Amino acid sequence: MTENQILIIFGASGDLTARKLIPGLFNLCKRGYLPEKFAILGVSRTDYTDEAYRKKVVYDNQHLGDQSSKEDLDIFARLVHYQPSDTKDADDYKTLKARISEINSAEDDNCIFYLSTPPSLYEVIGAHLAGVGLNNEENGWKRLIIEKPFGYDLGSALDLNKKLLDCFNEQQIYRIDHYLGKETVQNVMVARFANSIFEPLWNRNYIQRVEITAAESVGVEKRGGYYDGSGALRDMVQNHLLQLLSMVAMEPPVKVDAHSIRNEKLKLFQSLRPMTPEDIRSNVVRGQYGAASYKGEQLLGYREEEGVDQSSRTETYAALKFYIDNWRWADVPFYIRTGKRMPTRVSEVVIHFKDNHIQLFNQERIDNSHNVLVFRIQPNEGVLLKFGLKIPGSGFNVQTVNMDFLYNDLTDKYVPEAYERLILDCMRGDATLYARGDSVEAAWKFIDPILEAWKSDPSIPLYGYPSGTWGPEQSDSLIEKGDWRNPCKNLTDDGIYCEL
Ligand code: BG6
Repeated sequence: MTENQILIIFGASGDLTARKLIPGLFNLCKRGYLPEKFAILGVSRTDYTDEAYRKKVVYDNQHLGDQSSKEDLDIFARLVHYQPSDTKDADDYKTLKARISEINSAEDDNCIFYLSTPPSLYEVIGAHLAGVGLNNEENGWKRLIIEKPFGYDLGSALDLNKKLLDCFNEQQIYRIDHYLGKETVQNVMVARFANSIFEPLWNRNYIQRVEITAAESVGVEKRGGYYDGSGALRDMVQNHLLQLLSMVAMEPPVKVDAHSIRNEKLKLFQSLRPMTPEDIRSNVVRGQYGAASYKGEQLLGYREEEGVDQSSRTETYAALKFYIDNWRWADVPFYIRTGKRMPTRVSEVVIHFKDNHIQLFNQERIDNSHNVLVFRIQPNEGVLLKFGLKIPGSGFNVQTVNMDFLYNDLTDKYVPEAYERLILDCMRGDATLYARGDSVEAAWKFIDPILEAWKSDPSIPLYGYPSGTWGPEQSDSLIEKGDWRNPCKNLTDDGIYCEL
């Protein structure tokens, strides 16, 4: 890793910075992963001094955990600086450039610009940085990290990519998708390609269907204003869940590097079967949560949330059935569902294998008795395989048993948070777990017709569902053979899963 670097955070007084970026950097510092000469420079409009900013994001930051010693905080705080700046004022970028050189005091200015700002500022900041030469790599590399959403639809995504590429080249742009930083998401790829037992079965000959669920128990919280202009399809499916899908379904990469892996993901997105108007009607379900009393709590309906239009038709739930038209997956149905205000927070990938051609034994009908492999992304991260074994005693009766692995069992291994892992990758110049522009566009190409149909055809229903349920019941009929896996079936009273 390059040994002198400076990380400039735009949006330095915002929520993401305090909640994710600073804690991620603090952990990297504690674990000795930061480069030898490293500095953080917060940039936003508020007029903090270095000291005041350190107090805010380090000493008073409740997200740094109670375990941090004063010494750890002091060491980290020394790396933190602040520069008040108006992102729209060209002159402020000259001051910023001078400040970077002053802090860095090295031959090379290796800079990461982290744009933790509203997306409407990406092209403004990008253009101003380029305006003062902060995109130029003659004296050290320059990298730009941007947060989703990367566009609002295909047209705006193309436009954003084009504008960014006017100022930075693709190798300099790191599009962060925090799902890719989750250990269990990466593990899907490793489980597939590091073992000889899964990949031979990983195709249409042996797999009956694939389900991906990302359920959240929270509502829109304080983000009603943003969410109402977005909805579940843009907020979760276009990015996180399609990225997760690509890990499940892509072809083996030629090598484990950013170029090869991202090429395979692009191919996968290009193989998604475009949805016809008829598919959108019958294979996509959207819903919006309503008020309900759940576990003794009175929960607001979506339209009553702060910042949400009282007649909003924004979906807080989306479920899709779709196909991947390639050699491996032809005719295998894939299902994705995500929603807010569901009974619990759980994300998982469920692979359903086909039944044996002949059923020799008397098999208990659990989950249709076929083999199921579950990758639990969160919580209780782990992997579960369900298969049939003999019930002790006379005869040959079969029951479904579980074989599982839980990350918690690796007590000697530190599992980094997604942001921590991803920022470190960017420092190392490894973009493997970042989304490439062409695949972001390809993902939008798949999602765009659905958004367009929802917007232009009011006869497509938006179903209500009571908070604390698994979404509109219409999504149950998307799956022809069987049901969505219900991860709550095995929830104990105190909310702990006995099965993953
Ligand atoms: C964000 C979405 O990208 O991901 C949020 O904007 C969502 O609406 C969040 O709650 C989910 O992330 P995680 O890591 O909690 O599953």
